[in-house]
Amino acid sequence: MTALAREPDRQIDIEVAKMRRRDLRRVLAIEGEVYPRPWTRSLFLSELAQRHSRTYLVARHEGEVAGYGGMMFTRKEAHVTNIAVAPELHGVGIGTRLLLTLVTEAVARSCDRISLEVRVSNSIAQSLYEKFGFSVEGVRKGYYVETNEDAFLMVAEDALSTDYRLRLESIRDDLRKASPRDTFGE
Ligand SMILES: CC(C)(COP(=O)(O)OP(=O)(O)OC[C@H]1O[C@@H](n2cnc3c(N)ncnc32)[C@H](O)[C@@H]1OP(=O)(O)O)[C@@H](O)C(=O)NCCC(=O)NCCS
Repeated sequence: MTALAREPDRQIDIEVAKMRRRDLRRVLAIEGEVYPRPWTRSLFLSELAQRHSRTYLVARHEGEVAGYGGMMFTRKEAHVTNIAVAPELHGVGIGTRLLLTLVTEAVARSCDRISLEVRVSNSIAQSLYEKFGFSVEGVRKGYYVETNEDAFLMVAEDALSTDYRLRLESIRDDLRKASPRDTFGE
C-alpha cells in the first residue's frame, strides 16, 4: 500500500453510521486492502453480535463505505479494536472523524482510559492516535504473528477530564471548518 499525499483541506461529505451486516462486503474489501491478515466475515459478525460491549461504525462517502472503526467496552476502559479507511481516501479526515465518534462514545460511557495496539512501523496511525492524546505505554513483542512485528500499546488516560474534553472539542472544531454543514452528531 502506498501512502497518499495528505489533503486535510479537501472537503468531502462523510456520514458516520452504525455498521450493519450489509456493509460487510465493502468493509471486507477495504480490510483486505489495508491489512496483511484481514479480519474474516465471521469475526466481524461475532463482533457485531456483541451489541452491549461493542460499537462498530462505518463512514460513508457518496453512499459507499469509505472506512470503519470499532471499539470494545469494559466497565471503565474502552479499547479500539479496528480502524481503517479505503486507501484512495486516506488523508482527508475520515480516520479522524471515525475515531472522534468512537472516543466520544467511550467518554459518554464513562470510560476514563482508552487503549489500542498499533504496529511499531505504523507511524501514520500513531500520529492519528497522538492527536487524540494517546501515548505509548508499552510494547507487545511479536503481537502481529504473520510478520512477527511488535505492537505499541497506546493509551489515552484521563479521558473524562476537562483537558480531554477540550482536546476533543478542538478536533471537532477543525473538522467543522473542513465540513461546515456537518454537525458531527450534536
Ligand atoms: C490510520 C488510518 C485509519 C488513518 O485514516 P485517515 O482517514 O487517512 O486519517 P486522517 O486523514 O483523518 O488523518 C489523521 C491523522 O493521521 C496523520 N496522517 C494522515 N495521513 C498522513 C500522512 N500521509 N503522513 C503523515 N501523517 C498522516 C495525521 O496526524 C493526521 O492528522 P492531521 O491531518 O490533523 O494532521 C489510515 O491510514 C488507514 O486506514 N491505514 C491502514 C489501516 C491501519 O493501519 N489502521 C490502524 C491500525 S492500528
